Amino acid sequence: MRRRPNAAAVKRAPVRCPQSEKPGTRTRLNWERLITADKGGDLDGELGTRISALCEEGREFWHRFDHEVRQDDWHPFVPADYNAVLAALMPLRKPGRRFLEWGSATGVITIMADLLGFDSCGIELDSSLVDVGRDLASRWHSNAQFAAGSFIPMGWEWKLSDGDGRHGTIGRGPSGYLELGRSLDDFDVVYAFPWMGEEPMMLDLMRCHGREDAHLVLHTTQNGTRIYRGGKIV
Ligand SMILES: C[S@@+](CC[C@H](N)C(=O)[O-])C[C@H]1O[C@@H](n2cnc3c(N)ncnc32)[C@H](O)[C@@H]1O
Repeated sequence: MRRRPNAAAVKRAPVRCPQSEKPGTRTRLNWERLITADKGGDLDGELGTRISALCEEGREFWHRFDHEVRQDDWHPFVPADYNAVLAALMPLRKPGRRFLEWGSATGVITIMADLLGFDSCGIELDSSLVDVGRDLASRWHSNAQFAAGSFIPMGWEWKLSDGDGRHGTIGRGPSGYLELGRSLDDFDVVYAFPWMGEEPMMLDLMRCHGREDAHLVLHTTQNGTRIYRGGKIV
């Protein structure tokens, strides 16, 4: 029987981390400097360069994954527009804020959030992608944490008023929260890139299990990046 290819089959990209970033030398974020830099709409130079190189590595991986894995078997992983997500996350930064990515795939956005200063975690169902994310985090000297499992907490069921409980491309599996040692309502900012029609399910999940004052950032191909709080667009 032919073995289903997965992210492990995709060759690793050359290491692109800036040379100044040696293990253990992770720069502490200077919030004042970053906030000042934000007033001009941009990140400060060094962090901006790192994030842009991280995203570039993520895009290169995606092209190889699309060619080597997705051409044989459909897979739900398609990367978001990293620049659009970065722009949405910038105003949400505050020291100590906890960030969670639902379906973190290769971990680029979870690592980006960590580099931006969030206490950052990602949950991904495909464990071969989780391995890619962990490897990327280690090479970028990021503290981002990843769990292999589902971002759907145990016991939650999605039901539309007409009784339709289809999950679209969202897979089933054991909850990833136990491995993180956190529950959904521990997070201040939750991010996802749903496929078309999956936003209502994510809004309901957040309403049932998220914190009331948490931000939900949903990136979609149709509507760009929207930020919700208490179920309403802010
Ligand atoms: C459209 S991709 C988004 C990737 C990434 N978040 C981004 O924005 O670039 C959706 C990801 O969610 C993952 N996924 C699907 N169902 C999941 C579930 N129940 N729990 C965790 N991850 C899931 C898929 O394997 C895929 O990697």
